[in-house]
Amino acid sequence: MSTTFQLDTSTSRANPTPAPMRRLTVPKIRARKQDGKTEEPLVMLTAYTARQAQLLDAHCDMLLVGDSLGQVIYGLPSTVPVTLEMMANHAAAVVRGSYHSVVVCDMPFGAYEASPQQAFESAAYLLKQSGAAAVKLEGGQAMAETVAFLSQRGIPVMGHVGLTPQAVNMLGGYGARGRSDAEAEKIVSDAKALDDAGAFAVVVEGVVEPIAIAVTEAIACPTIGIGASARCDGQVLVAEDMLGMFERVPRFVKKYGNIAETIEQTAAQYAEEVRNRSFPGEEQVYQPKA
Ligand code: KIV
Repeated sequence: MSTTFQLDTSTSRANPTPAPMRRLTVPKIRARKQDGKTEEPLVMLTAYTARQAQLLDAHCDMLLVGDSLGQVIYGLPSTVPVTLEMMANHAAAVVRGSYHSVVVCDMPFGAYEASPQQAFESAAYLLKQSGAAAVKLEGGQAMAETVAFLSQRGIPVMGHVGLTPQAVNMLGGYGARGRSDAEAEKIVSDAKALDDAGAFAVVVEGVVEPIAIAVTEAIACPTIGIGASARCDGQVLVAEDMLGMFERVPRFVKKYGNIAETIEQTAAQYAEEVRNRSFPGEEQVYQPKA
């Protein structure tokens, strides 16, 4: 299940490759925060495909198969329509493409909220189908019982508080959270409840910075910030956002590349060469043996 594959596009084969690095484990990730301190911040990026995982893996501690794939890969309007099958298929591809990072798979909306039993069945399905090491779920206090239920049964859980995109229909949008005292207190107590329940890390998304710092100081397990603070114990971004795949990105994204421009320019050059018959050239065509 955890074999790494080298994609050989000339033969369309995925060849097993020896794993050059040992895969990190959930206990090692959890242990990066000791007595409230994380010497080296944890690095997490989303990944949805095998090739993307191959390119990101060596630079990350964790790869998140986020349900953001609903918008990024499938062009859906939100994460709400994403299914367990979609998550399992993409997580399996990411596991096949990686050998170093802990692969965390998002639990999609509707697959875990009804009861701890429903969550266990969904999480077990995801881990069995994909080989991922952990699941992530959204929600605070209301999910604490479920986090404890899964953790006590061998399923590591990453929590997710603050802006929780699966609740977009309740929240009414994707604006930053924690601007009122009541909301700020709720986010901190939600994170504490997940930590007490056994979450090995908690994503803190889209909150005003003092709340991210308060959560990081209040809980024993690492916080992974997105639109939060550099003082979190780690950071996560959607890989396509930071690679520059989209023109419009949330304020908290830093674009480290401009992959959209590279793709457009490359496609334009290909189209021109097809139209003026300079592609394929001599090097790309087969001739009969002399
Ligand atoms: O689905 C996702 O990509 C996420 C991250 C943005 C944290 O949950």
